[in-house]
Amino acid sequence: MKYASELKKQLVSFRKFESVRSCLDVKSDQESYRIHIGAGNWPEMVAEIQRALHPTQVVVAMDETVAELYGSSVLNALRDSGFAAGQLRCPPGESSKSTDMANSWWQELAGQAVDRQAVVIALGGGVVGDLCGFVAATYLRGLKFVQVPTTLLAQVDSSVGGKVGINLPTGKNLVGCFWQPSLVWIDPSVLRTLSEREFSAGMAEVIKYAVLRDDGLLSLLEEHSTQILARETEVMGLLVHRCCAIKADIVQRDPRENNGIRATLNFGHTVGHAIESLTGYKSVLHGEGVAMGMIAEARLAERIGLAPLGLADRLVELVRQYRLPTNLPKFTWEQWHQSMRRDKKNMGQQIAFALPSAWGCVALTRDVSLADVKAIVCG
Ligand code: NAD
Ligand code: GLY
Repeated sequence: MKYASELKKQLVSFRKFESVRSCLDVKSDQESYRIHIGAGNWPEMVAEIQRALHPTQVVVAMDETVAELYGSSVLNALRDSGFAAGQLRCPPGESSKSTDMANSWWQELAGQAVDRQAVVIALGGGVVGDLCGFVAATYLRGLKFVQVPTTLLAQVDSSVGGKVGINLPTGKNLVGCFWQPSLVWIDPSVLRTLSEREFSAGMAEVIKYAVLRDDGLLSLLEEHSTQILARETEVMGLLVHRCCAIKADIVQRDPRENNGIRATLNFGHTVGHAIESLTGYKSVLHGEGVAMGMIAEARLAERIGLAPLGLADRLVELVRQYRLPTNLPKFTWEQWHQSMRRDKKNMGQQIAFALPSAWGCVALTRDVSLADVKAIVCG
């Protein structure tokens, strides 16, 4: 509860200073980097990139939708600072995270004679961030890249922690590596142009952080939903800051996901990924799968006596408040089982879950019986 009053105080100060900025430093085994959060303008971002990274060339990677909305202002800011800025473009959507698109971007970087002192900017959502980061990690054995996330999901999750990669026809994120950004620049005001559905999908990851760590965040979500749903820039800046601080702390303690700490970020994802995969990555957004998955996994935690009764119902209320789906789609047990067996957290036959034992307390669990899982996903 101490956090709740601190957050409310911060909220008041955010109101007074609409353009307030905040920074977080993330230490990593590769490169340490700074996350800048706050309503800003593109010339300031370019000045910061120049100051911190001294690039010889800058290339901006973006999908067509983001290019239309923000491309020319970012490119103009770069050109005004003397850069002959190049571009990498892709169609919007998950299908761009492909070997074909990575290959096409490698060829374009070669065509633009990009050298090792160049910086690539990933301007967009998680798709562009993952693809651009992977291309940057592999071209000339590694170029610096800057994450400029423009979706809520990317601002609170995918732009921090250095997981980059592409999909194969057989599965999501099967090819990739850890490649940390050299800088993250987050402007919450760009969230205003996001569709309602994509905004809500991002809120699922925000809710996940509230279960994972911080009961101040929980009460902020419960009590300030009107400002949050209105995407007030200062409130969003505060929310994004809290989420990035939690993610930064987690990835610093387990950078390559091998001691169980980073795997807690997967709360809701064992079931959520299964829903995405069983619906062909088309009708359900990642955040929507996570929302339904968190509720199912919270009910599982209650069923096995790990979480107190009532936790899942409170989560349902929160998920509804942010206009996210709460009921699982119908699949056979065989479909659920086959899909969850492919989860990257599994070892042997057991299906692994990151389960809550209370608000603010989630741990990796591998000893859940299949009968309990079946009872939850098949009702
Ligand atoms: P996305 O990148 O496809 O963006 C969603 C849509 O919003 C796109 O159509 C995009 O053009 C549009 N868009 C982006 N910014 C906008 C803006 N400001 N205004 C209007 N429209 C805008 O999807 P996403 O949800 O950001 O990311 C999903 C991807 O992130 C998945 O591939 C997932 O695997 C990946 N991911 C990665 C990590 C990680 O740690 N690397 C974590 C979570 C998710
Ligand atoms: N989004 C999960 C992770 O970064 O580990």
